[in-house]
Amino acid sequence: DMGGHDTYMHKEIHEQADAVDRALRGRIDDRFSTVHLGGLNLDARDARAVRRVKILGCGTSYHAGQIGAQMIEELARIPADAEPASEFRYRNPVVDPDTLYIAVSQSGETYDVLAAVQELKRKGARVLGLVNVVGSAIARETDGGIYVHAGPEVCVVSTKCFTNMVVSFGLLALHLGRTRDLSVADGKRIIEGLRKLPAQIEEILAGEEQIEKLSKEYADAKSMMFIGRVRGYPVAREASLKLKEVSYIHAEAYPASELKHGPLALIEPAMPTVAIVPDDDLLEKNRAALEEIKARSGRILAVAHQEQEKADHTIVVPKNEDELDPILMGIPLQLFAYYTAKAMGRDIDKPRNLAKSVTVE
Ligand code: F6R
Repeated sequence: DMGGHDTYMHKEIHEQADAVDRALRGRIDDRFSTVHLGGLNLDARDARAVRRVKILGCGTSYHAGQIGAQMIEELARIPADAEPASEFRYRNPVVDPDTLYIAVSQSGETYDVLAAVQELKRKGARVLGLVNVVGSAIARETDGGIYVHAGPEVCVVSTKCFTNMVVSFGLLALHLGRTRDLSVADGKRIIEGLRKLPAQIEEILAGEEQIEKLSKEYADAKSMMFIGRVRGYPVAREASLKLKEVSYIHAEAYPASELKHGPLALIEPAMPTVAIVPDDDLLEKNRAALEEIKARSGRILAVAHQEQEKADHTIVVPKNEDELDPILMGIPLQLFAYYTAKAMGRDIDKPRNLAKSVTVE
């Protein structure tokens, strides 16, 4: 039942405030400015013993893992990174007992992720799951984990589950941080940020009409560039993937800092750029990148916390805490992908060549 929406994608985009609310419910501990994650199976001593975090997933879940790794580094100061599960399992990785491995998956059935988990377990590693589907294969094979509580996701492309994965990583980063050097005050600041998310998501969704109009302006593009820096880079990658999947427009994502090392050669009026421009310590750097693009007559659509003078259009999103901004900045671009695909008459819930869960190698 699509409840009045024309597609599951549209319905699921609109379910995100409720989904995030569900991910937070019952988990926040205001007294100690931390969170309780029941199924984690990692006591304070275990959490303190973690020397590195390695996150494994595929596609959108891998992108959620990239944001998660940054959150864990920022809030817990534990070195962390994400890698596609399929790459990991085929390169005979060094498995380290002091590393905490986290497998991320909506379905919990993706074969490459499951195989990576099994290989890790065979080598004696500690593996947690960050999974949506309760009781799925990856949830069962892992030593513990976090359910992301996005609810059923029917559309082949992931939207609300991505958002809930990133929120769940925020919870985990806060938890790990509070077993280490994250102060009570910073814990409180992050909790307040998390609590603001549902209302801020509603605010973004209320601006849907502007995004629909913008998508028509850009739907003639054969190819689009997505850029972001540090926190904004995985947001750009996920937005680029979403546009490709549902509209079949070619899109590339690059760190904004890499533009001048090659991709700037592609910039011309027929190659628009979508830029993620958060109002954080990298704002001036990002503005400089917009200027470089403008100097080559590139069209720019910015997703930012304030109007960007160099951009042709800006989608303004509400500001949260710097560390949590990536959760919100991708949401307008889910709508952008949806409306672009709709204008092109695509089969949005079932894009060609794709399956909801990839249970083969
Ligand atoms: C993107 C998408 C895919 C999945 C990927 C992993 O919209 O749907 O990239 O994210 O196949 O699937 P899960 O999360 O089920 O392991």
